Amino acid sequence: MTLSKTADALFQPFNGGNLELSNRIVMAPMTRTFSPKGVPGAEVAAYYRRRAENAVGLIITEGTVINHPAAASDHNVPHFYGEEALKGWEHVVREVHAAGGKIAPQIWHTGTARTREKFPESDAAPVGPSGLNLMGQPVSEPLTKEEIHGIIQAYADAASDAKRIGFDAVEIHGAHAYLIDQFFWGVTNKRTDEYGGDLVGRTRFAVEVIEAVRKAVGPEFPIIFRFSQWKPVDYSAKLAHTPEELKNFLEPLSAAGVDIFHASTRRFWEPEFEGSDLNLAGWTRKLTGKPTITVGSVGLDSDFMSMFTEGKGSQTAGIGEIIERLERNEFDLVAVGRALLGDPAWAAKIRDGRTEELEVFTREALGTLS
Ligand SMILES: Cc1cc2nc3c(=O)[nH]c(=O)nc-3n(C[C@H](O)[C@H](O)[C@H](O)COP(=O)(O)O)c2cc1C
Repeated sequence: MTLSKTADALFQPFNGGNLELSNRIVMAPMTRTFSPKGVPGAEVAAYYRRRAENAVGLIITEGTVINHPAAASDHNVPHFYGEEALKGWEHVVREVHAAGGKIAPQIWHTGTARTREKFPESDAAPVGPSGLNLMGQPVSEPLTKEEIHGIIQAYADAASDAKRIGFDAVEIHGAHAYLIDQFFWGVTNKRTDEYGGDLVGRTRFAVEVIEAVRKAVGPEFPIIFRFSQWKPVDYSAKLAHTPEELKNFLEPLSAAGVDIFHASTRRFWEPEFEGSDLNLAGWTRKLTGKPTITVGSVGLDSDFMSMFTEGKGSQTAGIGEIIERLERNEFDLVAVGRALLGDPAWAAKIRDGRTEELEVFTREALGTLS
């Protein structure tokens, strides 16, 4: 097989953070709502298998909710608990492994992103550190400590199941203003106990989740932690305004047992702080010394929110800059979202230099599990 010379860096093996991968391409977690009653079926398995067959080194699944009555914010999102859903996931793992791929579930609690309107039949009210939605308005009571401990246990149980049914790693969803990020963010966390306070205080919930997950999976099973500065209601939001603040934020998470950080940004080329062109994954790698995954508009000409705000797909774009940054070791792994939705063979085509065959991403791609 001839490697496209420019893409070589993407196809180097990776060995770090307890994880060995055949290359640097990661499928980004993407919610697809194709799992009726929370059970991922044969179509979901085939969808992930197609990406594994086509040279994706690591697949991170769509967000899959932990065993708590208010964890989901949408119907048809897969569960990561219960015999039937876990059997479905076991089948997904088998299919991906049969195609030579590796896979991690993204475990998720949506916090107050859940709304009563969406679940009128359910008595499970949304939960959050202070019972506030993303605008800071009250929608329920603040979580009690007992409830917090129960939710932490549910994350640990999910991670333990991930390991038991054969996944290669687990990703904890700490980004995008869902439950863990609601603890990080001052707008949604007004607690005055040990789970609130300054940014370091607000990492405590995540730290306890990571510690519980580590205890559940043992020292060698890879834990990936995804976080973001941006929030769906405020793209310019920042948890950390300076490298020092970012260091203070990441250190407790790193010490709690994260193996690989996944820094979620919308455009990988944007510098995170003035005075350096490092992006968020670059800074995270530099400050923690841990491997990192970057993400955001790789291979596409517009960011993923344009799909919602302008109803737009995206055209393909060159991959020169992502390769250059990878060659400089700014980060270790590159997650690809919509480009892999639009074209299951994106990674194989990049590897083989068949760039003229790349399919563009359109909104219609969201309507099927192709
Ligand atoms: C349809 C769709 C669903 C998504 N669902 C999730 C999700 O469940 N969990 C998550 O962390 N990010 C989710 N994201 C964000 C992606 O993982 C990724 O960070 C984002 O799309 C930027 O990458 P891209 O520009 O390559 O698409 C989703 C994105 C899209 C387009």
